Amino acid sequence: MPRLEHASELLTWVEREIGLQLLETERTFEAELESANPFVADIIAHTRKFRGKRLRPILLLLAGKAAGGLTTSHPVLAAVVEMIHTATLVHDDVLDVADVRRHVATVNVRWNNETSVLYGDYLFTHAFHLAASLETTEACRVIGRATNRVCEGELTQVRHRGDLFLNESTYFEIIDGKTAELCAVACWLGGRYAQAEDRQIAALEQYGRNLGLAFQIADDVLDLTGTEEAVGKTLGTDLSQQKLTLPIIRLLHQLSGSSARDLRQQIQDEGEQAAPEVMRLCREEGVLDSTLKTAQDLAQEATSLLNILPASPARQLLQQLPRVAVDRSC
Ligand code: IPE
Ligand code: IPE
Ligand code: MG
Ligand code: MG
Repeated sequence: MPRLEHASELLTWVEREIGLQLLETERTFEAELESANPFVADIIAHTRKFRGKRLRPILLLLAGKAAGGLTTSHPVLAAVVEMIHTATLVHDDVLDVADVRRHVATVNVRWNNETSVLYGDYLFTHAFHLAASLETTEACRVIGRATNRVCEGELTQVRHRGDLFLNESTYFEIIDGKTAELCAVACWLGGRYAQAEDRQIAALEQYGRNLGLAFQIADDVLDLTGTEEAVGKTLGTDLSQQKLTLPIIRLLHQLSGSSARDLRQQIQDEGEQAAPEVMRLCREEGVLDSTLKTAQDLAQEATSLLNILPASPARQLLQQLPRVAVDRSC
């Protein structure tokens, strides 16, 4: 397998490796959500117009394949994890007052916040309903625990909204919960249901966690540098909602006392309007490069954890995925 540079290239190889199971995951996802209620069916049809990157199902299925082989439970688990992820996004768009998600209007804009809250709940409850169809309760328990941590991450972020002195350690605590946890559990489940050895499952979990951290850091850079057309979601929400992310935390830390004070004031007064100034200073201070370097280091750490698995095309894809997840424009 060559070194894969772009997400589209990686996806071609992924389809070749686990295409059938991804299809099965999608079928399971859709069948689970089906509703006879016309309003609910309408919302589902709207959110189906553009699908996401399916990162978590891909992680789960590749982990399973690389760790011993896929079973009929794997696509079910992959659908469960993607459903939880989708639920968190529907709620997140209310929290971030976002207009666009996956290239279409968010549920909160197309309908309203109440609809988003309830549709997010609908997705969460369906995820656990689907997980309960598996033979044992283990997946339900493990996914339940992970989802609790995702909620704790989002709650910690809300609790620190407007805190312009947020430090790196709290930022890492937030993204470890809201993003890395679900990637970690996806990889854990993939390995566990492939009957991998405990030490291999632990390595896969840590791989998923590091990859998730790296992915979110890259996403927080994209929130500043990306374009809405490419990324397909509302950008600049971190600043408008005064949720400090790694580049801005580093910038404020690096600036001299009075410049940092001025910038904090500007962010507080202007929110997203402060973006051009934040960007100018980020470039001047080399903060974007240093932030991406942190993401690349985490991606590299993730990749090196996989040596514990036997060589295979699925392992090779997992090894390349963290780099591609960081070096992306959408
Ligand atoms: C968005 O996740 C939320 C973050 C963790 C940054 P994705 O970027 O995986 O969203 P989709 O599923 O591809 O839309
Ligand atoms: C996404 O976080 C929510 C979760 C990971 C639960 P963000 O707010 O940072 O991500 P986007 O930019 O809206 O996708
Ligand atoms: Mg958010
Ligand atoms: Mg958001």
